[in-house]
Amino acid sequence: WPVYAPYVAAINRLKRERNAVILAHNYQTPDIFHCVADIVGDSLQLARDATKVDAEIIVQCGVHFMAETSKLLNPEKTILIPDAKAGCSLSESITGADVRLLKQRYPGVPVVTYVNTSADVKAETDICCTSSNVLAVVESLESDTVLCIPDEYLAMNVAKQTNKKILTWKGHCEVHERFTAAELLAYKDANPGIEIIGHPECHPDVIAVCDFAGSTAGMINYVKDKRPPRVLLVTECSMASNIQAEIEGVEFVKPCNLCPHMKRITLPKILDSLLFMTEEVLVDPAIADRARLAVERMVNLKQ
Ligand code: 13P
Ligand code: SF4
Repeated sequence: WPVYAPYVAAINRLKRERNAVILAHNYQTPDIFHCVADIVGDSLQLARDATKVDAEIIVQCGVHFMAETSKLLNPEKTILIPDAKAGCSLSESITGADVRLLKQRYPGVPVVTYVNTSADVKAETDICCTSSNVLAVVESLESDTVLCIPDEYLAMNVAKQTNKKILTWKGHCEVHERFTAAELLAYKDANPGIEIIGHPECHPDVIAVCDFAGSTAGMINYVKDKRPPRVLLVTECSMASNIQAEIEGVEFVKPCNLCPHMKRITLPKILDSLLFMTEEVLVDPAIADRARLAVERMVNLKQ
């Protein structure tokens, strides 16, 4: 911790001087999550909270699509991302042109897009979703068939919970697709009584051996409420590190997988971002209005 202290002090001072807030995703490292973030959460919480921020500048500690979502919801604010190369395998799996082709192939079928997509993709779709509200979003549509893109596994997992026919795409999260049911069952055998908690970006065979599945915030709330003595979070590594500091008496058993994109965000880069006002995230005005509509429909959906 001492090595981080000068960065933490400088970032927190600059935040005040510049009238900036830091929004950080649950996958950010503990130094960011606990020492400089003003608001932390899952993708849906961050999108919702972005609409309530008073500050002139938002520094988005997460990946690029999250910063774009904040920009869509706050067109008049300056949105900074400490590393513009922080991408996402799901976001990179599909383009706006792909969605236009899907709509030609399935005319009249509503398109639900995971927030883990570019603004270009969001602009082609009816409504966005996150892992915490995907079922509510799908159920809110009148159609019996729904396109739920681009995460194939999220779509397969929601298909198990609804009577609607779910069509999807072949996108995967490179972090969650690496977990297997066999490895989790081996951990279960070796650790009697362990609770296994998964993220819906995992394959349905993995979710089938989990005791609970939910968004990153859903997973955190489950552990905080239930306090299982021993837990395995089937997700990104920083999740366990972040909540370990807050929750006593819970043993977190690994494995976990690192998201190389989330890990591009570091304290020195956050400091540079605030010092030099970089990288500013902008959305092409030609697509921004349509993309905003898809995000706002999700944010305003009653759950
Ligand atoms: P949530 O925080 O919405 O569960 O999303 C997880 C994720 O992989 C974000 O990139
Ligand atoms: Fe994308 Fe997966 Fe990384 Fe989230 S954890 S940013 S879904 S690659």
